[in-house]
Amino acid sequence: MSDLDELAATSLAAVEESADEKSLEALRVRLLGRKGVLTGHLKNLGALPAEQRPAAGQQINLIKNRLQEAIELRRLALERESLDSRLQAEKIDVSLPGRRRASGGLHPVTITLDRITRIFRAAGYDVAEGPEIEDEYHNFEALNIPENHPARAMHDTFYVEPGTVLRTHTSPVQVHVMEKGEPPFRMICPGRVYRCDSDLTHTPMFHQVEGLLVDRNVSMADMKGTIVSFLRAFFEEAVDVRFRPSYFPFTEPSAEVDMTCVACGGKGCRICRHTGWLEVMGCGMVHPRVLEMSGVDTAAYNGFAFGLGVERLAMLRYQVGDLRMFFENDVRFLGQFN
Ligand code: DAH
Repeated sequence: MSDLDELAATSLAAVEESADEKSLEALRVRLLGRKGVLTGHLKNLGALPAEQRPAAGQQINLIKNRLQEAIELRRLALERESLDSRLQAEKIDVSLPGRRRASGGLHPVTITLDRITRIFRAAGYDVAEGPEIEDEYHNFEALNIPENHPARAMHDTFYVEPGTVLRTHTSPVQVHVMEKGEPPFRMICPGRVYRCDSDLTHTPMFHQVEGLLVDRNVSMADMKGTIVSFLRAFFEEAVDVRFRPSYFPFTEPSAEVDMTCVACGGKGCRICRHTGWLEVMGCGMVHPRVLEMSGVDTAAYNGFAFGLGVERLAMLRYQVGDLRMFFENDVRFLGQFN
């Protein structure tokens, strides 16, 4: 009898100590299985004197029941423990912020082109487009750039094949527009241009906006007023503007346009090379020969034209110090314009 008591005590202790469901099951088989310890005791009852058998049998069954109960409780406890630890390990904090999708944005040159276009559209200008692969006639001849003009030299121009070039400026679009339509004309042409030139301040491809106005009795004052208004609208500042006499084959007279340095306000700094002025575009009264070649009646009409570099205006507006930034496409740079 005391053997049984001891068996009961050690077995219950073993059940409590079993660390997982697998070892608990092994323990159950060892104690209660068909070849288990308790079953063995029951089988051995026959060896006892007859008067002891009922009490011993009763006790064995009692222990058996208690063990069964303890094993079941332990099994449930272990099950809950392993479920708890699994839930703990797989815990997801649904209140954490999600990973946001990075959104793209417009390139600063595109933003600048849109801005220039919006300003001129508001002043009643149409937007024209022309081919980037251009014939020499439209790129040069029709703009009064004769055969021997330095701009024609190979070092400036990409030749696609003899007689065909990548346009070196957007001015040939003036010619296309005048050839196709009837005056008055009031248009700008934004677009890519190409020059065989690459260093700190030049890239082989860049953007220009060409402007053309042809009407009756157009004066230089009209041109000045237009350009000054544009620059003030573009920079959102009452910049001073000056017109320096210059030369372009397709305009006469011609001028280069300077405005107050936006970096120093005209005091002089590195960006304006201590002059207080920034050169921002070329312009002039359209050369009568250019009008004639494109079929415009110069007795009735005249006009002005201008051409500006988009990257240059973008650099000045956004204070970008290095032209190459626009073409490296580093998202850390581009992302700042969103
Ligand atoms: N086509 C010139 C260039 O590429 C820019 C320019 C200057 C255009 C004066 C014009 C103008 O229409 O009148 O440098």
